[in-house]
Amino acid sequence: MVTDRQLKALWKDFFTKHGFKQIQNSSLIPENDPTVLFTTAGMHPLVPYLLGEKHPSGDKLFDTQRCIRTGDIDSVGDFNHNTFFEMLGNWFLGSCPKDEMIKLSYEFLTSKEYLGIDPNKLSVTVFEGDETAPRDELAAKTWEECGIAKDHIFFNPKEDNWWGLGSGVGPCGPDTEMFYDSGKEKCSPDCKPGCHCGKYNEIWNDVFMQYRVENAGEKAQALANPNIDTGMGVERTICVLNNVKSSYDVGIFKEVIDFMDSKAEIKNSDETVKSYRILADHLRSTVFILGDEKAIKPSNVGQGYILRRFIRRSVNHARKIGLDTKFFADVADLYINYYSYDYDILTKNAEVIKTELSIEVEKFAKAIDQGFKEFEKVINGIERHKQFAKEGEIVENIISGKAAFRLFDTFGFPYELTEEIAKERGYEVDKAGYDEAFKAHQDLSRSASAGTFKGGLADSSYETAKLHTATHIMLAGLKKMFGNQVEQKGSNITPERLRFDFNLDHKMTPEEIKELEDFVNNVIQKKLDVTCTEMTLEEARAAGAHGVFDSKYGEKVKIYTIGDVDKQICGGPHAKNTEDLHHFTIKKEESSSSGIRRIKAILD
Ligand code: ALA
Repeated sequence: MVTDRQLKALWKDFFTKHGFKQIQNSSLIPENDPTVLFTTAGMHPLVPYLLGEKHPSGDKLFDTQRCIRTGDIDSVGDFNHNTFFEMLGNWFLGSCPKDEMIKLSYEFLTSKEYLGIDPNKLSVTVFEGDETAPRDELAAKTWEECGIAKDHIFFNPKEDNWWGLGSGVGPCGPDTEMFYDSGKEKCSPDCKPGCHCGKYNEIWNDVFMQYRVENAGEKAQALANPNIDTGMGVERTICVLNNVKSSYDVGIFKEVIDFMDSKAEIKNSDETVKSYRILADHLRSTVFILGDEKAIKPSNVGQGYILRRFIRRSVNHARKIGLDTKFFADVADLYINYYSYDYDILTKNAEVIKTELSIEVEKFAKAIDQGFKEFEKVINGIERHKQFAKEGEIVENIISGKAAFRLFDTFGFPYELTEEIAKERGYEVDKAGYDEAFKAHQDLSRSASAGTFKGGLADSSYETAKLHTATHIMLAGLKKMFGNQVEQKGSNITPERLRFDFNLDHKMTPEEIKELEDFVNNVIQKKLDVTCTEMTLEEARAAGAHGVFDSKYGEKVKIYTIGDVDKQICGGPHAKNTEDLHHFTIKKEESSSSGIRRIKAILD
């Protein structure tokens, strides 16, 4: 059995040997980027650097990055879909040595010292070319030179061999994808890498980020300094290395599924396997979101809503297999203990994770009670309708799709439950109507999770850079007014406004808000230069910088200094001089969560 831990160690060894520097695994919530709810790929935290910012650790990097993708949430339960996953990545910043990267990929995949995969079992795809970028002959030729047979190299169009962020903006380019042939029969004569029948499993993607899209819908423009971004899915590669079809059949997933099987009334079988897998997947995502540095809580918006969905779906599936939700805490412990080797943040937040999980489960139990009352109302409505029906009018015992969807959406009542209790009372449910309402809702949430918001630091516009500088000045003002214990707890910037969370034990008075505005505007008027220097963490500490000191691996950090006002560890980008900010106005000061205040402000 090859574990994820061993795979990560091989990755580290290989790329260190080839002169790459390890960088940190970042939060699941992208910093200063409203274009997506979650970090969806390893390159996400690197967007500013892929667009030309200098990275303090150099121009050859690698890491493991935790990610969440919710676009396929309804496919979770089959053999290979996960909402949370880890991605191994490596980067060339500012250069694009395609042949070198392909040779590195081939060596890591096939060398006995590393993954030792039989080259005959590998197939690759490359970009066939279009009006934006030419056919990738160099990639194909290099694969052939490495030893991949010609008939294992496939040319594909943009739909298959082009990669960029789900939001449609930011760095992007043609890619070459590597697949492992499971040995299964082709599902049809046209079956080739990219087909989802299970014959070809994608394990690695090398993206040649030679382009960028500045605004959604626009044509990709060539980048002056192209890059390489690669991503290897840990879970899928583990399946290949252990010769199993499903990631749920190995490692920590298997342990969690076996544990639930030992506690549930209905055992794991072909009929229930979907529920077991959904539970294993959603509870893992829940643990990582609740344990994240950014402290997300269940709510009805943004990341909190996705988290709520994960927990509520888990409760529904626990009900299906007769698993008492009190065992969720044990499942959380299994994950926290297992991943502690790489995520001390989970160990640190273990109690928060379990408490928040049980609070949300409780809340949902109450919502379910409300749902039963609502259900009675629906039935009473039908009965009344019968009573007052006009002559000849037939009122059927059918619960409308709309009502069933309301039970689901407002009260968290799963459709199956509505159908079940309706049947007990002699009613049917309009399934087609429900599906229609559900689909409309799903389209909405899908576009939200793919990210349809415009702007953000992904487009690195100067507007966002200025607002970012404003957050630094504001935090300096808050520290001056309320003491050094005030820290940033969250930040979200769009080209129009900043949103900044910080700890404070009271609602700010109108006088305090005015004082803070005056402080920021005073700094703006002083026309201070904003400068950036790079140093080690120790040097940063000695220089009196504040910020997050949890960087590992001895990497260098960037320090942004605003005159004598602020010195902070930060990735940037920032305005060049405070005068560019013109004028600062606070639009709102409100509670974000217990002990955390939120300010929304603009530059005008
Ligand atoms: N960013 C690329 C991907 O996620 C490597 O596939």
